[in-house]
Amino acid sequence: MTEPLVLGIETSCDETGIGIVRGHTLLADTVASSVGEHARFGGVVPEVASRAHLEAMTPTIDRALATAGVTLHDLDAIAVTAGPGLAGALMVGVAAAKAYALALGKPLYGVNHLAAHVAVDQLEHGPLPKPCVSLLVSGGHSSLLLVPDVASDIRSLGATVDDAAGEAFDKVARVLDLGFPGGPVIDRRAREGDPAAISFPRGKLDDGTYDFSFSGLKSAVARWVENRERAGQGVPIADVAASFQEAVVDVLTRKAIAVCKDNGVDHLQIGGGVAANSRLREMAQQRCDKAGIHLRVPRPGLCTDNGAMVAALGSELVACGVEASRLDLPADSSLPV
Ligand code: KG4
Ligand code: ZN
Repeated sequence: MTEPLVLGIETSCDETGIGIVRGHTLLADTVASSVGEHARFGGVVPEVASRAHLEAMTPTIDRALATAGVTLHDLDAIAVTAGPGLAGALMVGVAAAKAYALALGKPLYGVNHLAAHVAVDQLEHGPLPKPCVSLLVSGGHSSLLLVPDVASDIRSLGATVDDAAGEAFDKVARVLDLGFPGGPVIDRRAREGDPAAISFPRGKLDDGTYDFSFSGLKSAVARWVENRERAGQGVPIADVAASFQEAVVDVLTRKAIAVCKDNGVDHLQIGGGVAANSRLREMAQQRCDKAGIHLRVPRPGLCTDNGAMVAALGSELVACGVEASRLDLPADSSLPV
């Protein structure tokens, strides 16, 4: 039997992502982003994101089909992010997926956004080892997951108790007047800075949990910058960016490796938008090498939100014989992993 041809729809935040895969082979990954429309607000505006999804949906699906060289009738299944994410944004994707599934007579698979961030790695590096540990770091989430099986068994061992890692990057970028989204620009500016210039706090580093906290760090950066400005001194942007980034990456990698060691797992996968961070990739590689852990990180374009990840997980569900979702599938903004 040929492997299933699956179309994936992702609309949990500000990217309308359409992916098409056959088994673990990526055929198309098309993204229309409304990120530019949110920039002047310093964060994603849910209402604006929902409307942008609605406008982008059909043309983005058409572009993905053309790239893959397939038609809607060739598809074996439609997968869609059912949650977690922004409620209105999710609803647009789920409604579109239902319409396509119903009109085409194809099965519908509602998938979890976090699980999809893990599954996408299979498109680049082949089947995930069972078990593996996944560090998921994005604008909405910072989680440590034990993954015995990406299709059926993902256990959350830790998560942020306040801001997500990407959110901290975005908020610190706002303090430094660097624009939105903050991650890529802080990553860039940090390359010219000294990561040891300022000692910022590492929240929950030694608290014995696998949870994270980044709001104290964000406040510490804001206070440091404020004090400099009040004293009439210039703010060394590159040093602040590098020192802040070092604090985030230090905690993320230390806790991720602790989960691997404590659970006897020697494969770590990193996903989510913050996994595009060059210092995170570098430090994770160094620390994994030292600990004898194999590291897998997809290329940056597959780390940020995209449709390929949804198609990748959908394809896995089809292959494992998981039952399709019903046409009354709800969009669930707080869907647990
Ligand atoms: O996974 P994603 O595209 O969307 C969510 O599900 O949130 O992640 C977006 C987040 C944003 O907070 C953005 O600032 C961050 O990922 N990000 C980065 C980098 N590229 C994107 N953070 C740090 N370094 C980067 N290079
Ligand atoms: Zn995401």
